[in-house]
Amino acid sequence: MSGTEHFDQAASTWDLVERRVQLAHAVAVTVASRVLLTKQLKVLDYGCGTGLVTLELATQVGSITGADTSPGMLDTLAGKANALGIPVRLVPLDAVGNGDLGGPYDLVVSSMTLHHVSDMPALFVRLMQHLNPGGWVALADLDEEDGSFHGDMAGVHHQGFPRKQVMDWLEDAGFGRIQIETATVTQKDGKDYSVFLATGQK
Ligand SMILES: C[S@@+](CC[C@H](N)C(=O)[O-])C[C@H]1O[C@@H](n2cnc3c(N)ncnc32)[C@H](O)[C@@H]1O
Repeated sequence: MSGTEHFDQAASTWDLVERRVQLAHAVAVTVASRVLLTKQLKVLDYGCGTGLVTLELATQVGSITGADTSPGMLDTLAGKANALGIPVRLVPLDAVGNGDLGGPYDLVVSSMTLHHVSDMPALFVRLMQHLNPGGWVALADLDEEDGSFHGDMAGVHHQGFPRKQVMDWLEDAGFGRIQIETATVTQKDGKDYSVFLATGQK
């Protein structure tokens, strides 16, 4: 099964796993502690999934867009947003993440998606191109792990990331004021996995 098929199949029950809900909440709270969220901000959630982070941030910002490679995930997010009466613009991407992201944005967030992206330096350059001057990225993903987080490695390109590597890629893409901190520690099958939040400004 491809990575996209995996997420399409998982979409309708994704939010039933409490660990994912808690992780997304911790990331949203950490983003809000690092970037001043206002009703003036135009925000993109890259790899939005069912919108666990998207919908939590949506009420705190001016507008929000969710981009994802999985049509099933985007359908689930659309249903949730509709039920809540929260406007969310949706951007379908192709299987490797290509597509017009729109914008420019004032903030690009992403949670637990980077390890599914093969070419990270190219993604950071792309995100930079879709930001307004002074705009921020706030990117959360797994710290380097031993590969045990994913049972099925289809569509998984990185076993987490060394923080120094993420900071170097952000710097190479032209970001400044780069910081990285622990957003949360998530537990899966009795094992702890720490999750970083990296921020940087255009
Ligand atoms: C682990 S889920 C996280 C979803 C959501 N951000 C959350 O916190 O619940 C990863 C998401 O990234 C999407 N994805 C996978 N590869 C991608 C890529 N190259 N570009 C954008 N999204 C991608 C998947 O379809 C999935 O919705």
